[in-house]
Amino acid sequence: MKSYVPDLDVLICEINAALRRYVSRKTPATLYEPPRYLFAGGGKRLRALLVLLACAAAGESYKRALDAAAAVEILHNFSLIHDDIMDHDAMRRGRATIHTKWDTNVALLSGDLLAAVAFQALSRCPKDVLPRVTALFSEGFIQLCEGQALDKEFESRPSVTEREYLRMITLKTSVLFRLSTRIGAIVAHAPASRERSLADFGTSLGLAFQLQDDLLDVIADESVLGKSIGSDLIEHKKTYLSILASRDREGKELLDRFRAGPDPDAHRALLASFSAYLDRSGIRRTIDRKVDRYIRTARRQLERFPDSSARRLLLQITDRLRNRQS
Ligand code: IPE
Ligand code: IPE
Ligand code: MG
Ligand code: MG
Ligand code: MG
Repeated sequence: MKSYVPDLDVLICEINAALRRYVSRKTPATLYEPPRYLFAGGGKRLRALLVLLACAAAGESYKRALDAAAAVEILHNFSLIHDDIMDHDAMRRGRATIHTKWDTNVALLSGDLLAAVAFQALSRCPKDVLPRVTALFSEGFIQLCEGQALDKEFESRPSVTEREYLRMITLKTSVLFRLSTRIGAIVAHAPASRERSLADFGTSLGLAFQLQDDLLDVIADESVLGKSIGSDLIEHKKTYLSILASRDREGKELLDRFRAGPDPDAHRALLASFSAYLDRSGIRRTIDRKVDRYIRTARRQLERFPDSSARRLLLQITDRLRNRQS
């Protein structure tokens, strides 16, 4: 059957093999080693899985979408390299970030390489869908940059509204989730209504994902998350947490203490206090409820599809994502 899909681990192996092929050249070593190092560090490969499973849920073989899946995942990894420079983060996937292991110039250039390689992978998509997929991919890339620009601009703003925050995370994160499921649908020649459902599924999932990412920055176990916790607070990021916390005196005081400067010992204690405050103030519950709402909206889009192994795996990913710790 065309829409047969193996389980997630097998799909991830296929994705990883494709990723490795795209950065297999040996020299210059400072250009090719960093992306290989980043890929070898793991990662959930969520966006690539969404491309493959959306394609299969729309009735086509997932194999038809492998290059598109690689393209989206490579673009995501490009964004992580540059994001870690922009956010001054030293850890990713439990290992040193590229700009700390090598240096910023190496990280900039290997990021540039991945952006180019992403389009190279995309160019290998089936010819009949290439013009549309390329137009959407380029626009998605542009919007991701817009989101990242807003994220940085917001750091120096005294406050941002919930609406502004949602627009920013839509652009920096959710757009790529939407692009992933939509491209999968297009590669499968899904009818317009199915394409829309899969795209909307991606949007809601992406919003839930970033809200959780912001929460995990405070409440996660660093060794499980693989990223330095509390980094958003030090960097004055505007997140849903900081927006809600800045509405009362206690929250505002805690936020100011993070901004006072990094003291590694005090940082741990402060994070514990902030986490307790999130529970006590009901902010944690408010965020959990919002995440649940987006998850439910996402699931509803899938209910329109006939039962299939791909649809079941998309639901499995959605549920796993709801409870993720990394
Ligand atoms: C991290 O994405 C960047 C965000 C949009 C929050 P992931 O958490 O999907 O990163 P990997 O690929 O699994 O490491
Ligand atoms: C991720 O936002 C957005 C992009 C990488 C485009 P974050 O800055 O919150 O991601 P992490 O937490 O560093 O993974
Ligand atoms: Mg970051
Ligand atoms: Mg960032
Ligand atoms: Mg984050």
